[in-house]
Amino acid sequence: MSEKFRALRVEQGTAGFTCAIQQRAVSDLADGDVLIRVLWSSLNYKDALSASGNKGVTRRFPHTPGIDVAGLVERASDGPWKAGDKVIVTGYDLGMNTDGGFGEFVSVPADWVVRCPLGLTLRSSMVLGTAGLTAALSVSSLIDAGIDEGGDVLVTGASGGVGSVAVALLSQLGYRVTAVTGRESSAEWLKSLGASECISREALLENSAKPMLAPKWSGVVDAVGGEILAAAIKGLRYGASATCCGMAGSADLPLNVFPFILRGVNLLGVDSVELPVEIKQQVWDLLGTDWSLNKMADLVAAELSLEELPAYFPQILAGQVRGRAVVKVAEE
Ligand SMILES: NC(=O)c1ccc[n+]([C@@H]2O[C@H](COP(=O)([O-])OP(=O)(O)OC[C@H]3O[C@@H](n4cnc5c(N)ncnc54)[C@H](OP(=O)(O)O)[C@@H]3O)[C@@H](O)[C@H]2O)c1
Repeated sequence: MSEKFRALRVEQGTAGFTCAIQQRAVSDLADGDVLIRVLWSSLNYKDALSASGNKGVTRRFPHTPGIDVAGLVERASDGPWKAGDKVIVTGYDLGMNTDGGFGEFVSVPADWVVRCPLGLTLRSSMVLGTAGLTAALSVSSLIDAGIDEGGDVLVTGASGGVGSVAVALLSQLGYRVTAVTGRESSAEWLKSLGASECISREALLENSAKPMLAPKWSGVVDAVGGEILAAAIKGLRYGASATCCGMAGSADLPLNVFPFILRGVNLLGVDSVELPVEIKQQVWDLLGTDWSLNKMADLVAAELSLEELPAYFPQILAGQVRGRAVVKVAEE
């Protein structure tokens, strides 16, 4: 197949890393089982790391970032997929060292592909994207760990992608959500998504040098790490759990063992990247049915074209994007 298509390519030059739209051929792509015509993608923190040359994310350049894809199967040589199927791909190596969703075609292994649930459009699946899938996995882990029904749940990094979807989902499921944010300007918006209360990072960190804090939280969804996650764990109620999926603040966890050995609390790791595809499908199906979000439209910070993306990379790295930026790659 020799069709040409558009992609946002990141190149390494003498002056650093640059991005530009380039023409590519389908034959340039890796030889995957499933060729997908990409219609929608989304912007995640990891995409901005890839686009700025972070070798922990992308080792080889030139490269097309984009860890999220929603589109139509063009052709498939393996798996249950046929031309025209509406599908989603998130995580695995997509957008890391495999050319990703910021181009009009991707070529991927059959076992990376998930059916787009009937309850979601291709666009709404990308409003959620990896961040939404991770938020849903975090909430699901808390439920599996036995969180109190309707209990008080703390969400950190609340204005971000994972945090904002977690706020909307938890409040829709009947939990009382306290959102932690470094942005006072986000408070009204977070309340409109369903947060009962918004607190500053400083307020959460008050007295946090103590080994334990007053037991307040029936659950915590964290995407920030560092002192914020440590303070949240110190404030868990007896037997309660915190999820940990990210390091937007820090990769450290300055904590001692007291909350674990005196209150029996749990720290639950969440990974949406290498998760088996069958579990990804189950969570996407849940997001298309019982967990379909009423506040989906309010999560959208921007709808971007490929040309507009580069201006957003520094913004998401600086923690300035509120909610989710969806990327329109091609006309449906
Ligand atoms: N494990 C996985 O599978 C997985 C999946 C998705 C994402 N992640 C990781 O999860 C993290 C969040 O992802 P995201 O897509 O939600 O990113 P994001 O949209 O950039 O949101 C991160 C949020 O964290 C808060 N924050 C930023 N810097 C901070 C700091 N220095 N101290 C405290 N809070 C800070 C900000 O919220 P406020 O302004 O409201 O405070 C920011 O909006 C990233 O580390 C990402 O790589 C992991």
